[in-house]
Amino acid sequence: MVEVQSRDYPKMADPRGRKLEHAVILKVLATNICGSDMHIYRGRFPFPKGDQLGHEITGEVIELGSDVEYIKKGDLVSVPFNVACGRCRNCRERHTDVCMNTNPAVACGAYGFNLGGWQGGQAEYHMVPYADFQLLKFPDKDRAMAKIKELALLSDILPTGYHGCMEAGVKTGSTVYIGGAGPVGRAAAAAARLLGASCIIVGDPNPARRALVKRAGYEVVDTTSHTPLPDQVEAILGEREVDCGVDCVGFEAHGYGKMAGEEEPEAVINALFGVVRAGGAMGVPGIYAEGDPHAKDEEHKRGKLSLDFGKAWIRSPSMTAGQAPVMRYNRDLMMAILWGRMEYLSEVINPEVIKLDQAVEAYQLFDRGEPKKYIIDPHGSLGKAA
Ligand SMILES: NC(=O)c1ccc[n+]([C@@H]2O[C@H](COP(=O)([O-])OP(=O)(O)OC[C@H]3O[C@@H](n4cnc5c(N)ncnc54)[C@H](O)[C@@H]3O)[C@@H](O)[C@H]2O)c1
Ligand SMILES: [Zn+2]
Ligand SMILES: [Zn+2]
Repeated sequence: MVEVQSRDYPKMADPRGRKLEHAVILKVLATNICGSDMHIYRGRFPFPKGDQLGHEITGEVIELGSDVEYIKKGDLVSVPFNVACGRCRNCRERHTDVCMNTNPAVACGAYGFNLGGWQGGQAEYHMVPYADFQLLKFPDKDRAMAKIKELALLSDILPTGYHGCMEAGVKTGSTVYIGGAGPVGRAAAAAARLLGASCIIVGDPNPARRALVKRAGYEVVDTTSHTPLPDQVEAILGEREVDCGVDCVGFEAHGYGKMAGEEEPEAVINALFGVVRAGGAMGVPGIYAEGDPHAKDEEHKRGKLSLDFGKAWIRSPSMTAGQAPVMRYNRDLMMAILWGRMEYLSEVINPEVIKLDQAVEAYQLFDRGEPKKYIIDPHGSLGKAA
């Protein structure tokens, strides 16, 4: 269950109470609801009761810690959802998704997850540590506000979809299969287009989401169809295999064809093993987790998957999984948006700006598979963009 509650103004302190002079406080302009929040909403992802959700945050800087040197009050900024120190080996190697210092339990910190205890940003105000390192400043406020619905996607789903494509080796002329037409899959489709992919095919069981993707100019396949995926791909492409595969579904995946009514956590990865050409690559931004109390059996509760690995191995696949290192891509994608190179982005994402008191309803609608991306505007700041 989610609800909107009154909470204290955020403190410039880490989850263990240590004061952070490298932090800032933001007035939140936009904070989006994500499929990752949905895993928590459905009770599939361990999350402390009463904690605050939200990791897709865009805001205006209103308070500075004494060690913040370059970010200024009044800056409009995008917050990468990964909490990263900028000082550890992984951060230095541009792996801000696996920062070694921001979560004592595992090398991976994020806001509004069970990942280091950093407070979620679906709120009016939000604290960001390591602000000089972390924040992406929009160069011009007026130009940024004119494109704020697109720029609000830089905190997560656009870099995440782009990362999935990069890890899948998408480049000019590539053919691509994307599992999932949720916001991440749709962002991956737009990213593949930006990278110059030729045939971009998106699969999903949800007809409304498929229709949105089709209208926006991409190919779609119905994963509930009894026609096997390679046959459906052949009907579109003339070949049974694609160059690149991206899993934008994760562990709550449903099966393909006759298994469509049932959860089959390994369905998308196994589908990619079957449809990506030998020597091809796969990006797996879809989340896989352990500790899912509603998993179908003990093995899956422990995060174990039944992969067609023996069949896949001989085809020399490469596969990258994990959180997206947002900072690796967010500046370039911001520039692409600001200079009009992604004018097709909103058509496929279908963002809807809502007020904070509509958030509970938006969670319900997203859970039911609405073909939208909900952006909460807690102060009514987005004006015309809404
Ligand atoms: N790695 C990261 O950094 C990162 C960042 C953001 C989100 N995520 C994860 O990415 C995944 C997608 O996020 P989202 O916001 O789009 O979520 P979402 O729940 O809106 O979308 C998932 C989609 O997958 C579809 N689906 C189910 N089974 C399928 C199958 N077998 N084949 C194809 N589609 C199938 C669903 O109908 C749904 O439309 C989630 O697991 C989310 O947690 C990861
Ligand atoms: Zn997200
Ligand atoms: Zn780090």
